Amino acid sequence: MNHSGTVTLETERLILRRFTPDDAEDMYRNWAASEEVTRFLTWEPYKSIDEVKGYIQYCIDEYQKPDNYNWIIEYKEVKEVIGSISVILIREDIAACEVGYCMSDRFWGRGIMPEALSEVIRFLFEEVGMNRIQATHDARNPNSGRVMEKCGMKVEGVMRQASRNNQGVCDSVMRAILKEESFYS
Ligand SMILES: CC(C)(COP(=O)(O)OP(=O)(O)OC[C@H]1O[C@@H](n2cnc3c(N)ncnc32)[C@H](O)[C@@H]1OP(=O)(O)O)[C@@H](O)C(=O)NCCC(=O)NCCS
Repeated sequence: MNHSGTVTLETERLILRRFTPDDAEDMYRNWAASEEVTRFLTWEPYKSIDEVKGYIQYCIDEYQKPDNYNWIIEYKEVKEVIGSISVILIREDIAACEVGYCMSDRFWGRGIMPEALSEVIRFLFEEVGMNRIQATHDARNPNSGRVMEKCGMKVEGVMRQASRNNQGVCDSVMRAILKEESFYS
């Protein structure tokens, strides 16, 4: 594969770019401290801006790895960062990866995450050389399933009681898209 690390990507409404220390306030205010956003996530809401600053520094350090893909999402219309999207697992031997994402509930329902995920899928197939991109969601979180569905990710099955998030143990829906099914084959 042709790893480039986290390079800036742009869509009509969004800029996907590296985290910077200046993003801490928006990240804290817009999504990181939210019970609503983290309901089905594996991490708990952040309790202070200092915790967010620590996480951002960790992200910045990780950018040194050529196969680290972790974008903060800037919404051009409001000039704020409103969420993030990242590659959370890579299998070099089969050119496969898993993605995850979250964003501020102030901006839900505008098709923003499908726009970000579509661009990340294009980048991973076309530029990095992935063959399979997967993602999972709690069966009780259909909104996330809709994002994946809008991006062409098909349900492959439900892994029963196979994951844990802030709601406890959950059934995990596995979705994926293959390069040959995408626009980029
Ligand atoms: C899942 C998530 C990323 C969706 O992003 P989004 O930009 O709102 O995506 P969409 O606009 O395409 O909306 C997806 C679905 O959410 C639902 N939805 C839309 N607006 C909503 C709102 N204001 N409140 C609750 N749900 C809403 C709709 O069912 C929509 O599907 P539809 O377009 O077919 O009606 C966002 O809800 C989120 O960050 N959730 C919390 C974190 C999370 O669950 N991450 C995924 C973990 S696997």
